[in-house]
Amino acid sequence: MRILEIRDALSGSHALDEGARILQDGGLVAFPTETVYGLGASALLPAAVARIYEAKGRPSWNPLIVHVASIEQARELASEWTPEAERLAQAFWPGPLTIVVEKRPGIPDGVTAGLSTVALRIPAHAVAEALLRRANIPVAAPSANRSTGVSPTRAEHVKAMMGDHVDLILDGGPTLIGIESTVVDVRDGVTLLRPGGVSRVALEEHVAIRDREAAPDGVPRSSPGQMERHYAPGARVVLFDPDDGDIEVAIRREQGSGARVAVFARTRSIDAADLVLDLPRDSSAYAAALYESLHRMDREAVDVVFIEQVPATAEWEAVRDRLRRAST
Ligand code: TXA
Ligand code: MG
Repeated sequence: MRILEIRDALSGSHALDEGARILQDGGLVAFPTETVYGLGASALLPAAVARIYEAKGRPSWNPLIVHVASIEQARELASEWTPEAERLAQAFWPGPLTIVVEKRPGIPDGVTAGLSTVALRIPAHAVAEALLRRANIPVAAPSANRSTGVSPTRAEHVKAMMGDHVDLILDGGPTLIGIESTVVDVRDGVTLLRPGGVSRVALEEHVAIRDREAAPDGVPRSSPGQMERHYAPGARVVLFDPDDGDIEVAIRREQGSGARVAVFARTRSIDAADLVLDLPRDSSAYAAALYESLHRMDREAVDVVFIEQVPATAEWEAVRDRLRRAST
């Protein structure tokens, strides 16, 4: 495994050539996107795709997102490109939105876990875009973490979790958004499958959104990967309300039974724990900091992390989803 630092597409030309060649040859390349680092393989080579599942320990029923360099390339992978797909792609690509459509036959079953649909996205990151253009193939890429673990927002996270399994890590520094893309199914109206980097409010400026349970045919739309426990560090995660008066007591109780305890505070100050991180008040800055903070729990061998709950408002929807899954 090699790590190549790449600060921009121009000076990183050699690294990009190498990454593109490895992808074309069926290897695994971890690369930065604006959301989290992806673990990429050629979406055209079943054996390469199989290596992703093996590296992640990912169940074979959980399909992958295919990353492309242009809307034309996305259309070529779809058997039906709906008006909603076009509208959302025009509005948000490149960007943190993944669009699920009926797939074109010929996309290997491994990519889509045997579903009739494929998830597509153009990432908004200079390194990712340059890599996709050079490789000139669709690239299947889940987040570059072990299945159910915390997604990587830095190359060091990928190295620590997946170092033995990838051929190359392109290190483009910390990712900007810090949580995964929003996933929408656009086959029959627009259904939100996973909240993420594009907010529901932003989507609603372009299309009407339907909830997962309310599909017209009565069959709920779903994303196989939305398993309950997910995004979880080694430590146990406990959420607490900002006005919970007994939280210090709960922390001391954990410490009393020998646990090393951390707190992610946002609005209040708490000094009872072994380690206190103050996370940003702003939702975007919070999202950008969250996964690195969770990875730090693993590095610092924390047993229990108490996380102050964030507001139940639209701008916090994706962060609340990740906190809930991390604490399940
Ligand atoms: O921001 C992101 O989306 C990152 C970067 C690398 O692009 N990728 C990512 O991939 O988060 P992953 O595999 O960790 O999450 C993809 C999600 C899973 O929940 C999966 O079940 C869902 O998308 N998905 C993929 N294909 C699907 C399909 N055909 N239908 C419904 N859901 C799908
Ligand atoms: Mg993931």
